[in-house]
Amino acid sequence: MTTRTTNQKLLAWVQEMVDLCKPDRVHWCDGSAEENQKLCDMMVAGGTFTKLDERKRPGCYLARSHASDVARVEDRTFICSAKREDAGPTNHWADPAEMKQKLRGVFAGCMQGRTMYVIPFAMGPLDSPLCRVGIEVSDSAYVVVNMRIMTRMGQKVLDKLGADGSFVSCLHSVGAPLKPGQQDVPWPCEPDPAKKYIVHFPEEEAIWSYGSGYGGNALLGKKCMALRIASVAARKEGWLAEHMLILCLTSPQGRKHYVAAAFPSACGKTNLAMMKPSLPGWTVRCVGDDIAWIRLGEDGRLWAMNPETGFFGVAPGTSNQSNPHALASVERNSIFTNVVLTPDGDVWWEDMGVPPPEKGIDWQGQEWTPGCGRKGAHPNARFTAPAEQCPVIDPEWENPAGVPLSAMLFGGRRASTVPLVAEAYDWAHGVFMGASAGSETTAAALHQAGVLRRDPFAMLPFCGYHMGDYLAHWLSFGQRTTADKLPKIFFTNWFRKDAQGRWLWPGFGENSRVLKWVCERVEGTGKAVASPIGLLPAEGALDLSGLDMPAADLAELLRVDTASWKKEAADAEAYFTAYGDRLPPAMRQQLDGLAARLEKAQG
Ligand code: OXD
Ligand code: MN
Repeated sequence: MTTRTTNQKLLAWVQEMVDLCKPDRVHWCDGSAEENQKLCDMMVAGGTFTKLDERKRPGCYLARSHASDVARVEDRTFICSAKREDAGPTNHWADPAEMKQKLRGVFAGCMQGRTMYVIPFAMGPLDSPLCRVGIEVSDSAYVVVNMRIMTRMGQKVLDKLGADGSFVSCLHSVGAPLKPGQQDVPWPCEPDPAKKYIVHFPEEEAIWSYGSGYGGNALLGKKCMALRIASVAARKEGWLAEHMLILCLTSPQGRKHYVAAAFPSACGKTNLAMMKPSLPGWTVRCVGDDIAWIRLGEDGRLWAMNPETGFFGVAPGTSNQSNPHALASVERNSIFTNVVLTPDGDVWWEDMGVPPPEKGIDWQGQEWTPGCGRKGAHPNARFTAPAEQCPVIDPEWENPAGVPLSAMLFGGRRASTVPLVAEAYDWAHGVFMGASAGSETTAAALHQAGVLRRDPFAMLPFCGYHMGDYLAHWLSFGQRTTADKLPKIFFTNWFRKDAQGRWLWPGFGENSRVLKWVCERVEGTGKAVASPIGLLPAEGALDLSGLDMPAADLAELLRVDTASWKKEAADAEAYFTAYGDRLPPAMRQQLDGLAARLEKAQG
């Protein structure tokens, strides 16, 4: 295969990686449909992919990962900034020179018997001022075909890079070299968690990922580049790289508002991003479901752009009720990982909203029947689907300028304490809301599920630098533009339960009721009442028409319990002490303000 680049830096780096990893072959990806088909056919022949029935899921494939390789590995994720203090208390740090030396040993010969794919990709539309190029070299064809869905990939990116453009260098290996004649397995990886490495060198803009072929560990454009590396660049250059969906809400009168929202992994970002509103006449259009790159426009507003081109969504729980538009997006040209294969060559997962097949093959490749005591799909099973297939993709989703934001939401999965929605008093208060966000953990990363962890801005696993500096960076936008230009900030919680453990809010399409109030607040018509924690919808301000919600449930959903909030504030304060002297003074003032308001409320 000819290399269609004259970029000497790129050619030299690829050669260096070849010398280190010693692949049998090198393939420069052009991103064409033919190349994609060849790789898919090759993976079918090798057992990595199962082709789904062409009449049911045209152009779709199923992969099953190794049981040790099912989620992001936060414990093995490192930020190797030159100075330890720049990585901050929320990241694992290692000295960059020492880590590089260690990794050179780990990667030595790791691609023997395999092909090294050179994957040129861009995050963001190629003509966007925020567009950035990455080059991933990987020994996984699964990574290539996923990157082709998730990013702009192939020759067009090399053309953009030109002879002297710069790129983020992304080295990836599944960590399973083949001896001559050794038979490959369907999902090669390094099974020992202690031998996996997801390593970022922010100053050098380099990523080295070893041992995993799964999702964010391996598709390096996503969490590694578009969040961890980009967040460092964004701070330096004055923009924001955020773990946020972007949607456009249109009222029955045709008024449009773009809203960005940050929720931790597996808290329903994809569902909200392409929601079907239950309120008649309202529409939601999706710009992106996971990542937003946000810049300050010349008009003083914040403009958000989705750097990706696909959805890498959690399959279990995705149903016609929770997310009909995601289901429509995965009808064709999609990849499913770790879901059930049905006897008629289709896929199924828990809470898909359709009856399970009488029998199937589960995510571990075992025969499976409903009620056998095992889940058929892994809780973090995923679909990879092209964004352009989403029936409600926003016409502006590829606008190189991005879209102007009217509001931002922060949220988490909280069974108690946190009300359905509250509006920040001002920008600094909004930053405080984002900073103190917490959520009960889910299956998206390997750790205990259901435990409350603080997850500032839903960026805890993704911020590539000191979280105290990150808060200061967010606060700086309050000085760089005027309050009327900045998006209004809200905190939401769709997950509050009553004392019996029953969800109080129906969620999904009904969340449009909250979005409607958000838009009315932006337009100055929505009514709100002050509370110690922020502005709450005034009585009657939330449109609950057609929803059979007992008054007591609504009252509980919006209740601010002073005692619980005192505990919440104390917990947030204790959490912030880890930031040491990098905690911006404005955050301390917010804690004091909250304490004073709670005191007064208790009065
Ligand atoms: C994701 C995540 O995959 O946040 O988007 O884990
Ligand atoms: Mn995410």
